[in-house]
Amino acid sequence: MSEPAERVLSPQPQPNDPKDYALRPRYLRDLVGQAQVRENLAILIAAARQRGEALDHVLFYGPPGLGKTTLAHILANEMGVDIKVTSGPAIERAGDLAAILTNLRSGDVLFIDEVHRLGRAVEEVLYPAMEDFALDIVIGKGPAARSVRLRLPRFTVVGATTRLALLTAPLRARFGAIYRLDYYDQAAMETIVARAAEALGVAASPEGIAEIARRARGTPRIALRLLRRVRDYAQVRGDGTITLPLAREALDLLNVDPLGLDDVDRRVLRTIIEKYRGGPVGLNTIAASVSEAADTIMEVVEPYLLRLGFLERTAQGRVATRAAYEHLGIPYNKADQPPLL
Ligand SMILES: Nc1ncnc2c1ncn2[C@@H]1O[C@H](COP(=O)(O)OP(=O)(O)OP(=O)(O)O)[C@@H](O)[C@H]1O
Ligand SMILES: [Mg+2]
Repeated sequence: MSEPAERVLSPQPQPNDPKDYALRPRYLRDLVGQAQVRENLAILIAAARQRGEALDHVLFYGPPGLGKTTLAHILANEMGVDIKVTSGPAIERAGDLAAILTNLRSGDVLFIDEVHRLGRAVEEVLYPAMEDFALDIVIGKGPAARSVRLRLPRFTVVGATTRLALLTAPLRARFGAIYRLDYYDQAAMETIVARAAEALGVAASPEGIAEIARRARGTPRIALRLLRRVRDYAQVRGDGTITLPLAREALDLLNVDPLGLDDVDRRVLRTIIEKYRGGPVGLNTIAASVSEAADTIMEVVEPYLLRLGFLERTAQGRVATRAAYEHLGIPYNKADQPPLL
């Protein structure tokens, strides 16, 4: 039974860049930002520890790169338990999940990334496992078949998703704690960039750091990526120190504008404004116009545009707001605009 488990489980977190692993906060106290989530988790952890129990099942949702995976590891570290990492699409059959579950030890964290992509048959196995810590297996076939209930250790599922709405209601109901991660504010982003610069041994002025933080659309993963690119620029075009002018030049060259919008973001806005007179226009039409997957636009592009107030979602489709016109330097002619419903 252990073979499929090994196939779908990665024993260690596998970040794209090994250096990211070193930058990842490991305990709650190292975590910057997300104050409310942090406080809630601190209580959840302390209470479970006091009672000597496994953590309740936890679900994190929110846009990519805000720390869902990081938080899952933090939960395991804080509880002093092992974490098994898998994802919705990796668990293809119910048997795969059964193999994973029977290999868990008491208190362990089972992290299921992209939990909204679990198959239906797999979910059916997960329900009793999460609720009753039991695994129902059918032995034999035909009239002689009988169901045997296997007891599982008390374990904790930590789920992560960028699409809460795609989670089935029964699965969602089995999570005892559900937390939304939001974009980080400027102060938190500056701290994250400053710490990463220090960890990477890059010299940077506070203004240079603030500029990278400002253009990272409230997302730590983007901040870390931009920091690396600006470091390259400073090394090749400057003396290696990240200053404000150098950060600006480097980020302009990367096509990241002062609000953190990149090419795709601007193309989406321009399409709505220039091709569809500001909207409303449907998501699939936009996706086809800019040659991106509708899912990417919905999960990655739109949340930040909505947050900036550049976009509105209406029953008829997406509408670009006046602020979006102004940011792109396109004249906003009210008479041109269809009425907002
Ligand atoms: N609060 C934070 N402080 C410092 N670094 C952070 C924080 N949150 C996330 N990071 C860093 O940002 C990167 C992305 O975080 P993580 O992988 O946890 O995001 P995610 O929400 O799981 O993203 P996805 O939805 O794409 O899986 C990691 O390299 C992590 O080190
Ligand atoms: Mg993740």
